[in-house]
Amino acid sequence: MSGNTSKILGISGSLRKGSYNSALLRATKELFPESIEIGDIRDIPMYNGDLETDGVPEEVVLLKQQLIGAEGLLLVSPEYNNSMPGVLKNAIDWLSRPSLDVRNVFRGLPVALIGASPGGFGTILGQSAWLPVFRSLGARQWSGGRLMVSGASGVFDENGAMVDESVRERLEQFTRGFLEFCEI
Ligand SMILES: Cc1cc2nc3c(=O)[nH]c(=O)nc-3n(C[C@H](O)[C@H](O)[C@H](O)COP(=O)(O)O)c2cc1C
Repeated sequence: MSGNTSKILGISGSLRKGSYNSALLRATKELFPESIEIGDIRDIPMYNGDLETDGVPEEVVLLKQQLIGAEGLLLVSPEYNNSMPGVLKNAIDWLSRPSLDVRNVFRGLPVALIGASPGGFGTILGQSAWLPVFRSLGARQWSGGRLMVSGASGVFDENGAMVDESVRERLEQFTRGFLEFCEI
């Protein structure tokens, strides 16, 4: 136990206001308010090597600082076309630059994946699509639990509040396991 200043960074891979994945991340923070910090990818520009040469955007610098200060990363990722959404992959790509920083930012970093989808499979293929990304970055992917939230329109109300108690229980169990893995 490293005290209540230790946190994991949670990032939702959806930019839309009514996002189920952002709602899932908020529900996670409600369960463990002291242990989760929410990172924002909304203003991160599309990766462009020229932009990087001119100076890494401040939104990227901030997110990277948050990640370096965190004990782990919880990625709450929608599934797009059986894979990950471009906006979230773009953010991770920025965080992996310059490549010399990968050691400090990602190597050995505990990473867990969850996601929500209105469909019946709850991002199962999207989650799998992340595995080679974090393997290549040398992260420690946690596989002690899985959480795919399917039928998301029935899990959250119109304000994005979680209304499904069985999903909340699974979310709590999953997150508790990941926090233990992160030694929080
Ligand atoms: C381009 C695109 C591709 C999608 N592909 C999938 C998919 O492969 N599997 C799936 O379950 N849902 C798919 N969806 C539906 C998303 O799961 C749904 O839009 C979901 O609400 C997105 O997450 P959000 O609510 O956090 O924004 C797709 C949506 C878009 C926009």
